[in-house]
Amino acid sequence: PAEVKPTALSITAAPITVNLGGGNNAQVWAYNQSFPGPTIRANRGDNATITFQNQLPEHSIIHWHGLVVSTENDGQPQQAIQTGETYDYNFSINQRAAFNWYHPHPHMMTGEQVYNGLAGGFIVNDSEESAKNLPSGKYEVPLVIRDATFSKSGDMLYKPTSGGFFGQIALVNGTKDPYLDVDRAVYRFRILNGANSRVFGLALSNGASMHLIGNDGGLLPLSSDQARIDMGNGERTDVLIDFRNYPAGSKIMLRDLRAGWDILEFRVGNTEQKPFYATLPLTSAVEPLPAAVKTRTFSFDGMTKINGNLYDVNRIDWTVKKGDTELWVFKTNGNAPHPVHIHGASFQVVSRSGGRGKLFAWEAGWKDTVLLEDRETVTVRIRFDSFTGRYVMHCHKLEHEDMGMMANFEVV
Ligand code: C2O
Ligand code: CU
Ligand code: CU
Repeated sequence: PAEVKPTALSITAAPITVNLGGGNNAQVWAYNQSFPGPTIRANRGDNATITFQNQLPEHSIIHWHGLVVSTENDGQPQQAIQTGETYDYNFSINQRAAFNWYHPHPHMMTGEQVYNGLAGGFIVNDSEESAKNLPSGKYEVPLVIRDATFSKSGDMLYKPTSGGFFGQIALVNGTKDPYLDVDRAVYRFRILNGANSRVFGLALSNGASMHLIGNDGGLLPLSSDQARIDMGNGERTDVLIDFRNYPAGSKIMLRDLRAGWDILEFRVGNTEQKPFYATLPLTSAVEPLPAAVKTRTFSFDGMTKINGNLYDVNRIDWTVKKGDTELWVFKTNGNAPHPVHIHGASFQVVSRSGGRGKLFAWEAGWKDTVLLEDRETVTVRIRFDSFTGRYVMHCHKLEHEDMGMMANFEVV
C-alpha cells in the first residue's frame, strides 16, 4: 500500500473492484481505492487532521486502533455516520513509535466491513526509534495478514458462523499467493493480524528465527530471536528477518503453524547485502506502571458477553479514575480465543495462568490487545492518563465483538 501523511488527509470508503493477483478480480470495500488501505505514516507530535467520507451502502466510522485519542476522535460505534456523510478527526499524536492500524467500528457490522477490505496500517515514528538505525525504505515492509474464502467467480465470501469466520486461504496485503523479492539484506516487517477470527502462529519454513523487536506498543524492552510468534486478531509484531546469508535463488516461506499454511514466499535475489547498522539486541526503556489501587475482573462468556452482559451502546458499565493504575483480570468460560482489546490506553501484561500458562516475548512492553485462550486468566496493569471520556473494551475476534462481546466504560 502507498504511504500518506495524516495531515489534511481525506479517506473515502467505497466499493471497488481490485485484482488480487493471478487475474482474480474481486469486489471489495476499500479506503481510498486501496486494499488494504494506504499506510498512514506520522511522527510523534504531529497533528492529524483527517476527514472520513462514507460512500459505502451502510453506516460506518473509522477507529484508530492503538492510538490514544479523545472520545470524539476514537471512532466508537455510536459515532457511525450514514452513507454520503463525512466525519472530521483532529487529534495530536503523542505516543511512542509503533505500528498501529485503522478499521471500521460500527456496531454489529465491523466483521463484515473489515472482511470486505477496510483496514490499513498507521505507523508512528519517533526520535528514540530512528536513533536505532532500523531498516527503512524498501527494507521496512508492513504485512497485513488475514484470511478469506472465495466464490467460483473470484469474489470474497463472508459467511461467519457463531464460532467466527475462518477463511480458506491467507491474503497478505490484499494479495493471493503472495511473494516478495528480497535482497540479501536485513528486513523489518511490521506485521498485523488483520483476520476477523483466525489466530496465526508465524514461523519461517527453514526453521530460522525471526528477531522480534516490537509489538502493539512499539519497541520491546529487549529484542530477541523467536522461532514462532503467535498473533491474535488485532495484535501487531515487529520483526527483523536476515536474508544476508542465503544464496540467491533461495525461497523461504513465512508459515502459519496453526493452520499449516504457507502465507508468504520470500524470493532471495542477487542484490548485494546492504549494510545493517542497528546493534542487536535492541533495548528500549519501558517504565513499569506503579502498583494498582484497584482490581477488576472481566469474564468473557460464551461468544457474546462480558460479565454476563451483551453490549449496549447506551450503557456505561464501569468508571475508572484518570491517572489511577488498575489491575484488570480477564477470564473465560470457553469459546476462546478472545483477543481482548482496550481503547483509550495501552497496558502492561502482568501474568497468565491456566492454558498456555506463561507470558510470551511479544507480550512485554506496551500492548493494546492480548490473547486469551481457553482456561486462561490474563492480568494486565492499565492506567488511563491521557483523556477523560468514554471508551470501549471488546473481544477483537470480530464476530464476537459484533454479537455483543463489548462494553463501554468511562474515564473520569
Ligand atoms: Cu481494533 Cu475497538 O478495535
Ligand atoms: Cu482499538
Ligand atoms: Cu471472543
